[in-house]
Order: sequence, then structure tokens, then C-alpha cells
Amino acid sequence: TTRIIIDCDTGIDDALAILYALRAPGVVVEGITTVFGNIDVQQAADNTLRLLELAAPGYEIPVALGASRALVRELTGFSTHVHGENGIGGVQLPPSRQVPVQETAAEFIARMADTNPGELVLVTLGRLTNLSLALDLDPQLTSKLKKVVVMGGTVYKPGNVTPVAEANLWGDPEAADRVFTSGLPVMMIGLDVTLQTRITSEHVELLKRHRREENKAVIEFMEESLAYYFKFYREANYLINSAPLHDPLALMAALQPDLVTCRRMKVRVEHQGAFTSGMVVADLRAQPKEGEFIEVAVEVDAERAVGVFLSVFI
Ligand code: BDR
Ligand code: CA
Repeated sequence: TTRIIIDCDTGIDDALAILYALRAPGVVVEGITTVFGNIDVQQAADNTLRLLELAAPGYEIPVALGASRALVRELTGFSTHVHGENGIGGVQLPPSRQVPVQETAAEFIARMADTNPGELVLVTLGRLTNLSLALDLDPQLTSKLKKVVVMGGTVYKPGNVTPVAEANLWGDPEAADRVFTSGLPVMMIGLDVTLQTRITSEHVELLKRHRREENKAVIEFMEESLAYYFKFYREANYLINSAPLHDPLALMAALQPDLVTCRRMKVRVEHQGAFTSGMVVADLRAQPKEGEFIEVAVEVDAERAVGVFLSVFI
């Protein structure tokens, strides 16, 4: 079994990643920590708790609130145009009986890694603020986490917030650079691979027809929230009734690394440029010098990845 902590800004694709993690075989979700991003940090926690109530009532997975803003930058707003006012496409889920834990996200991550050294995989699906703060709390964290899988960044494809920056790195580039140069065992799942891993309305139909009985409410949630997501991707990327599985792919790659092909690269995250903040600067020279080595996913078996995603609900 793989023991994971999910750090997220629970929007639509974060929600799909959480639902996948709850249903995938051989996974124990040890906790979910939230961060500002698609929506504010409280809303992210509330969405998370409601999703847990929907999909795993009675499991009591700890949910910890994290950063409400970036390390140094002012908050400029949220991605409600992508994920809706409440972050999950306007879908109203019943409230949860559970409340967040007292610890902050950074405290939770640092303590869990310290008490389970070498055991936990951290999957980040939002800004890297919480992980950066956890590194402040315990610099030894770099050797205590088994792996950190980051949904964020892009090397060969354009950005999605600026010409060169992906949302999760752009939202806190100081934190991202800190994490990427910390020596943590990072695997980056960026737009290079997530943009081609898409769920379509046909997949949703297939899920509705073949879902297991226990997934009725879960698939209804997916259908409703994805309708919102598809609308955004039609307007922004000219995609027809389909959308990228950004966050679910990171989750899946954490559990099944052979879904992607990685290349070891030294990288930095730009945080001073006027036009390039949040850009991944990969040192692709024969003798790379800038930054630290991380694993960057450069290819994905997208068809298989989507199949793996769907399979856990059927
Ligand atoms: C990332 O940004 C967020 O809007 C998504 O949830 C995903 O984590 C994609 O750039
Ligand atoms: Ca996210």
C-alpha cells in the first residue's frame, strides 16, 4: 500500500483527484491539507470535508487548513472563472459532520513525515506554500518524505495563466522555487503531460452506465461539476466537451509512476521576472548547473491514464 497526504486547493480537478484516491486500491489517504488557490483556504477545506462525507462517510480522514496567501506576494484573487464561485462548479454538496483538525497544514505535514520517516508520499495539487512552510518547520523534511509529486509547471508547453507559467507555480513562485531547490525528491507533473490527459463527456456517460452502486452520488457530482469545467475549457482552450485531468494525473502518477516518462532536470522557478514569474527554468544544457535535479514528466500514456481513472469507479 501507498500512504499519501494530499495538499490541495479543492477545485473541480482536485475533487476528482481526491475521489480517485479514495477509490483506488492500495492507497491509504493519511490526511488532506488545503491551501488558497482556486478558492480561499476555508472554502477548499469545506469542499474537501463535504467530498469526504459524500464518498467516504465515517472514515475520519484528517483535514488541515493551510496558507491563506502566498509567502511574499499579495493575494490577487482566485480561479473562480475556472472552477466556479464555490470551487466545485456551483454543485451544492451536503455539509460534513467532521471539522478540520487544529494543526496547520504545514504542522500536519511536518509531524506526519517526522513520525513516519520514509513512508509517506505527498501529492501537491495547488500552490506549494504549505510545503515550503513545512520545510521551515523541519529542514530535515527533505529526507523524511518518500516522494513529493507536484502538479504544476510546464517545460515544453505554454503556461495557462501567463504565456510561460502554470497556475500552481505562478500563484506562489517563491514557494515553488524553494521546494524545487530544497533537495526533496520531487516528481513534477506539469502541463506537458496533464493537457493531453483528458476526460470527455463520453467518459462521463460511460461512468453513469457502468458505475458501481456505491458511486451513484460520486458520479452525479462528477457529471455536474465537469459540466462547468467543460464550459471553461471550451472557452479557454477550444476543447469540445472535455477537460484535462491535471490533478488526477498527479495522483495517479504518484501511485503508478509508469503512466508517465520522466526526465531528470535541474530546474529553478522564476520569481523576479516581469513577464516570467512562475516559469520553470529547466537547465537543459549538456552540463546543467542552475537549480537542483528533479524528475519532470515529459510523456504520458494518456489513454491508459484515463482508463485507470475511470476503472476505480466501475
Ligand atoms: C492547476 O491549477 C488549478 O486550477 C487546478 O486545480 C490544477 O491544480 C492546473 O494548472
Ligand atoms: Ca488544484
